[in-house]
Amino acid sequence: MEKRERFSSRLGFILISAGCAIGLGNVWRFPYIVGKYGGAAFVLVYLVFLVILGLPIMVMEFSVGRASQKSAARSFHVLEPAGTKWHITGYLAILGNYMLMMFYTTVAGWMINYVYKMIHGDFVGKTPDEVGAVFGNMLADPFQMIFWMIVITVVCFGVCSLGFQNGVERITKIMMSFLIVILIVLCIRSVTLDGAAEGLKFYLIPDFGRMVEQGLGETIYAAMGQAFFTLSLGIGAMAIFGSYISKDRSLTGESLNICLLDTFVAFTAGLVIFPACSAFGVNPGEGPGLVFVTLPNIFNQMVGGRIWGTLFFIFMSFAAMSTVIAVFENILSFSMDLWGWDRKKAVLINGLLILVLSLPCALGFNVLDGIQPFGTGSTIQDLEDFIISNNLLPIGSLLYLLFCTRKNGWGWKNFIAEADTGKGMKFPQWARFYVTYILPLIIIFILIMGYWQKFIA
Ligand code: PHE
Repeated sequence: MEKRERFSSRLGFILISAGCAIGLGNVWRFPYIVGKYGGAAFVLVYLVFLVILGLPIMVMEFSVGRASQKSAARSFHVLEPAGTKWHITGYLAILGNYMLMMFYTTVAGWMINYVYKMIHGDFVGKTPDEVGAVFGNMLADPFQMIFWMIVITVVCFGVCSLGFQNGVERITKIMMSFLIVILIVLCIRSVTLDGAAEGLKFYLIPDFGRMVEQGLGETIYAAMGQAFFTLSLGIGAMAIFGSYISKDRSLTGESLNICLLDTFVAFTAGLVIFPACSAFGVNPGEGPGLVFVTLPNIFNQMVGGRIWGTLFFIFMSFAAMSTVIAVFENILSFSMDLWGWDRKKAVLINGLLILVLSLPCALGFNVLDGIQPFGTGSTIQDLEDFIISNNLLPIGSLLYLLFCTRKNGWGWKNFIAEADTGKGMKFPQWARFYVTYILPLIIIFILIMGYWQKFIA
């Protein structure tokens, strides 16, 4: 079996974990969900969830990874008390990583497809309807959908095949640094547009009335799903990076840094999108097409729009690819941990597998559009996203949480000892009662409420 690789530096660890966290969740899902659930009030609920749910669970995932020195496929086997069944969580995590990629590669493909379209000038001189049609035509065209999905998959597995330090760490560090610069430039451009104020108001000044109209319970359910999704929690995706770091730093401090970076990017992405929507009279409640349908219109009306647009979609692509690479790294390490495969073999077999598994989502918008799991207009992608964001991530997070706090699991003492090893912020002792008794109830309550609303009410 290969020797376990390490990060070359602490910055590498932080940027790669942030790269895993920062993705389509921040730049595509967050803005359209904020738009759908009515703006600032949703943002507020989401921020609360990041702190009360996300942060502690991230510390737990990293602790399990670092203590076991294994990916999620094996970490529970190493840490669980003899005779217990916690390792089933590991299989759920494996399933979750594959399932996530089944729709993620397709959306990531849209992003680089749009980089290409921007450079190529496909939107130049088009009316808003024609711009919308470009998105519709893309969805309807199985060839385009599959082609760009393949490009993403091959490029990202290519990076992974170079090895962890040489490929994953080096490339992600470069992409993340660029991403942050591009984001700040775009943000300045957007908030200084004429007419930006209306969008800023929608995004920043809470209107709880609007939230109640949307349905309070539904909003809370969506905010929880988004919090887990954006921080990559519940399927061991972060845990793996815990297994690649040293014991120099305590894990609470590191998690806090990663949460802050993730929130910074999501928040700033909103500052790019909502002012631009109001400046050019675009409805923020557009749904998954938000960035694809509205933004090219916006760029069309801006001086130098083609350059801004290209930059924007490069930024989106980097965010998406850093996540795909991180999740592929997980998937590779599952096969390496479970069966002792070498990296090459793992890349080849998993690469092919992901290509095949990604087809239903890509074809769900055209050839298979008769399959509408949640009623008229819904797609296979909606189903896959629902299974992941509203089921596997919260349930997996709950299991990590119980594993770290229950006596018949890994237990609080072991968890806290691992989390607090190293310099930096310690996990607050007073939080023990909260994470042991209250947090699990919050998650269970929201899950049940969510099902009830979706399927019964
Ligand atoms: N956090 C990623 C994003 O925001 C998505 C993700 C979820 C990645 C779960 C890994 C695990 O795009």
